[in-house]
Amino acid sequence: MIQAPKVQDMKDLTRMERIGAHSHIRGLGLDDSLEARQVSQGMVGQMEARRSAGVILNMIKEGKIAGRAILIAGQPGTGKTAIAMGMAKALGDDTPFTMMAGSEIFSLEMSKTEALTQALRRSIGVRIKEEAEIIEGEVVEIEIERSVTSGAKAGKLILKTTEMETVYDLGAKMIEQLQREKVVAGDVITIDKASSKISKLGRSFARASDYDAMGAQARFVQCPEGELEKRKEVVHTVTLHEIDVINSRAQGFLALFAGDTGEIRSEVREQIDQRVAEWREEGKAEIVPGVLFIDEVHMLDIECFSFLNRAMESDAAPIIIMATNRGFAQIRGTKYRGAHGVPIDLLDRSLIIMTRPYTEEEIRSILKIRCEEEDVEMTEEALDLLTTIGLDTSLRYSIQLITTSSLVARKRKASEVDVPDVRRVYSLFIDLKRSQQYLKEYESEYMFSEVQG
Ligand SMILES: Nc1ncnc2c1ncn2[C@@H]1O[C@H](COP(=O)(O)OP(=O)(O)O)[C@@H](O)[C@H]1O
Ligand SMILES: [Mg+2]
Repeated sequence: MIQAPKVQDMKDLTRMERIGAHSHIRGLGLDDSLEARQVSQGMVGQMEARRSAGVILNMIKEGKIAGRAILIAGQPGTGKTAIAMGMAKALGDDTPFTMMAGSEIFSLEMSKTEALTQALRRSIGVRIKEEAEIIEGEVVEIEIERSVTSGAKAGKLILKTTEMETVYDLGAKMIEQLQREKVVAGDVITIDKASSKISKLGRSFARASDYDAMGAQARFVQCPEGELEKRKEVVHTVTLHEIDVINSRAQGFLALFAGDTGEIRSEVREQIDQRVAEWREEGKAEIVPGVLFIDEVHMLDIECFSFLNRAMESDAAPIIIMATNRGFAQIRGTKYRGAHGVPIDLLDRSLIIMTRPYTEEEIRSILKIRCEEEDVEMTEEALDLLTTIGLDTSLRYSIQLITTSSLVARKRKASEVDVPDVRRVYSLFIDLKRSQQYLKEYESEYMFSEVQG
């Protein structure tokens, strides 16, 4: 029997948090007519590419397109990954967005096609409607007693609606939850009968006079009407992959936590697909096509590319967004070269978005945003110097100098990064150009330069 994950279980699963290089990006920074604002939501410049990404985003949101691929092509550090991140943020939590690097599939302990299948199924959501039996009411009183002999806790909970009032007996688990959620008289709560999970909806309006005592963050809600116990429709979105994993072994959820899912048998997937199709027919579920983002896509080989090609033809296919910084390059697994290292048949299906190098002003803006993100104070002159360095070397290199130069500044007990700090780290950490120059000068002294591929 194929089982769908329950809402409360899914809530406990933390979605992967992405911090670091792109943490400043909160969206694509577009206005209502999908025009890119020069600086918005952490995004700077690259207006055309952002606009194109926005158009695609709208198509995804409408859920009407499947079997499309988008290729973001451009030089290193021109914001390809940043744009994909912006799209992910703009899509919201309800639409699955999976990221992987092309090279990842070679390092996982499973076949390439299994790794791709998992990535594809992670990117397809199933929105499931469920009827849950709940108890919803305003807390009139909570009474907790500890038995003198056994030490066990027992108690009573009195809940009311505008029409009725009932006393419930509390077990130890419920008491623990009530205490953890800090539920007190005057709170409006729901209890899921199947899982006994308690959620706090807010404070009853009738208790609005306690406002001062509760602080400004209190949210007020009406005391529920009618019966205390009712059926309520709840909707939650899970991915096909999550359903796969939960049904593929006894310890499904643990596997999901550990990220150690192993290969999933195709019979399991077939059963699941069939079941999901039934749910759709019964109106219990909807498919939500999400996005699979494959960064550095030129790292895939020809087997992967043809697998993707075929996968895109299935009717529940996610949108595939690829990114590459390659121009004309060898297609891995063949002796042929192709534009962006991607075979022509896949390119032919793809909408191509180009990213362009940044202007000085744009680099300055991005650096400034990163300073704020990394909590680094910097003088205008230091920022100017960093901008020049960014223009001369690479955006990424100059971004990396922000934290390092702030460490140098802190060492001299300054609260602001100044020009000498930036100079110092510039001389400490060489960039690519200088590294290459250095290597050329001293080539003969490195043994690994003998091995040429
Ligand atoms: N348009 C932009 N607005 C804001 N930050 C950007 C923009 N483009 C790039 N960045 C930031 O610059 C760094 C390098 O960009 P990245 O997206 O990794 O480049 P690419 O993937 O094209 O090599 C990242 O930290 C990224 O978040
Ligand atoms: Mg990138």
